[in-house]
Amino acid sequence: MIYRLPEISDKNILQEYVQEHYDNNETSISASLGLSFSEYPDWVEKIQKNALIGDEIWGKSLLYLCFDNNKLIGLLSIRYDFSESLTKKYGDIGYGVRPSERNKGYATIMLRYALSVCRERGKDKVILGCYKDNVASAATIQKNGGILMEENDNYNEGKISQYYLINL
Ligand SMILES: CC(C)(COP(=O)(O)OP(=O)(O)OC[C@H]1O[C@@H](n2cnc3c(N)ncnc32)[C@H](O)[C@@H]1OP(=O)(O)O)[C@@H](O)C(=O)NCCC(=O)NCCS
Repeated sequence: MIYRLPEISDKNILQEYVQEHYDNNETSISASLGLSFSEYPDWVEKIQKNALIGDEIWGKSLLYLCFDNNKLIGLLSIRYDFSESLTKKYGDIGYGVRPSERNKGYATIMLRYALSVCRERGKDKVILGCYKDNVASAATIQKNGGILMEENDNYNEGKISQYYLINL
């Protein structure tokens, strides 16, 4: 797979990516950092700034477009510079795969790649969160060595979140 930051010229493929979610009655686009409700050039600028300079609160982070055979398959958010409190709340890595490409092993490969990036950037462990009823995401994490550390509904008004640890 090819992983890279978004560019201005990706506008159309990202529009199609978002539309495919809407066509499948999904209103939220995972790991997109507000793509669907941002002006596209502002969004690209924000993502590129996050990668190069970082953000005061969130630190440096990467949002990669993930391609296979020139098709945009998914989005991968790698927040390798989080403080411990942000890690515990949001997790260090987020991902989403477009509806038509799910259940083909892509998220498992994307998470494995994100772990290698975190390792290269000096992390020795990551925490990932997902909703307990998100069976596919929990399986993705477990297949990459995730150990369930905690379940709670602290932030989600009744929906149980799971937090997994992966030692790198
Ligand atoms: C969660 C998500 C990223 C998984 O992506 P994916 O590419 O389909 O995952 P994979 O194909 O790598 O499958 C990983 C595991 O999940 C299982 N799985 C995939 N889809 C599943 C489904 N609908 N129901 C149950 N298990 C499922 C797979 O079988 C596999 O486990 P296995 O090898 O033990 O059988 C994808 O469903 C998605 O984008 N969902 C919406 C966004 C989201 O939930 N992001 C994560 C937020 S924490």
